[in-house]
Amino acid sequence: MSTSKSAVLTFGNGQSVEFPVLSGSMGPDVVDIRQLYAKTGMFTYDPGFMSTASCRSAITYIDGDKGVLLYRGYPIEQLAQQCDFLEVAYLILNGELPTREQKANFVHMVTRHTMVHDQLARFFNGFRRDAHPMAVMVGVVGALSAFYHDSLDINDPRHREVAAFRLIAKMPTIVAMAYKYSVGLPFMYPRNELSYTANFMRMMFGVPTEDYVVNDVLVRALDRILILHADHEQNASTSTVRLAGSSGANPFACIASGIACLWGPAHGGANEAALNMLEELQREGGVARIGEFIKKVKDKNSTVKLMGFGHRVYKNYDPRAKLMRETTHEVLNELGLGDDPLFKLALALERIALEDEYFVSRKLYPNVDFYSGIVQRALGFPTAMFTCIFALARTVGWIAQWNEMISDSEQKIGRPRQLFTGPTRRDVVPIAER
Ligand code: CMC
Repeated sequence: MSTSKSAVLTFGNGQSVEFPVLSGSMGPDVVDIRQLYAKTGMFTYDPGFMSTASCRSAITYIDGDKGVLLYRGYPIEQLAQQCDFLEVAYLILNGELPTREQKANFVHMVTRHTMVHDQLARFFNGFRRDAHPMAVMVGVVGALSAFYHDSLDINDPRHREVAAFRLIAKMPTIVAMAYKYSVGLPFMYPRNELSYTANFMRMMFGVPTEDYVVNDVLVRALDRILILHADHEQNASTSTVRLAGSSGANPFACIASGIACLWGPAHGGANEAALNMLEELQREGGVARIGEFIKKVKDKNSTVKLMGFGHRVYKNYDPRAKLMRETTHEVLNELGLGDDPLFKLALALERIALEDEYFVSRKLYPNVDFYSGIVQRALGFPTAMFTCIFALARTVGWIAQWNEMISDSEQKIGRPRQLFTGPTRRDVVPIAER
């Protein structure tokens, strides 16, 4: 981080204050306003963090105008094509791609932590079977802190490392358990000889009465989905994890808070919402009704949005969406579903939206969630599970960002300020006189 530049803020009363400007290795410079309140008695106002960098980070870089996404400097396209999910997880957590030996050790550690405490299995019985699996995920992942007391000391690097392995390893087991519980099927124990993703698919779709046959094309597709969702710099759920962690909360509690935030339809819940939108449009007439639907989306008085479109940072095609579209093709072809009407509808909707002035002028492009629902549905995941898969993948990013925050000497407890607009001081009138 270099600081050779500065910015001067001039106020109406003629007061001028100089602030350092910090440069990262890429991306816009930032004005360091940490001394603003001390020097001027004023705060900044930036709801939604439209112009605020909340931390420094060396993990993920996005150039939203160019549609670029890099994990630790490596383009997402190269990682998605040449690496598997655990290799990418190692990279995100440690900063470098693993050697063969490092990868083998990492895979070994993750594989040996996949089982959950047996008592945790009974924890599920407290939930209604029709609970949304994300509600179950928030509860069960938060409850991990009640089971693994030997990895809660955030100041002990070994505890942090063990917590990271536990979270990455147990997340597929917990997601699969949430699914099995919802459909009343027995939980499947993990199998150590399978890859991370194949093991997850077996725990999801296998049953104890017969062997599960792994389909490598489908496993590779899901692995790619996990890679594409592994991290995305300071998004809402990651910022939530950092904020929760800034108070010293334990990692399991922090990740549970991230899952809760991810659930919202403007964030991770968009994949479920996008598929629901496509299905509804299909039921109402499909391609023939796109014009009418787009009209509703553009109507200022309607609350209808084109789910899976638009992004706070990408003002260009989300690079993950391109890869996801490719993966959708591969999966549908493998399953003999090349004529899937929902995929055709999505392609038509995308084409029409990309030519429409409303979307062009606002730079609204498909994001990762536009296609991820179609491919996940083809893989056999029920719609309600989509965001759980996102949470599974993003756990890697959340942990890496949480770790980075804990090790950052400049990080303080997150404590935003406010512009107060409520009543000024007044006295309580006794209830009899009100
Ligand atoms: N459909 C219709 N109009 C939209 C959409 C959309 N999907 N997204 C943005 N707009 C309009 C918005 O109404 C506004 O119009 P105007 O300037 O006339 O008021 C303009 O575009 C700018 O949008 P914004 O809401 O100010 O942008 P934002 O950065 O606050 O919101 C977003 C970003 C992702 C929340 C939003 O685009 C959205 O709600 N998209 C649909 C949900 C979705 O797909 N979310 C997944 C995001 S990617 C996965 C993830 O990271 O979780």
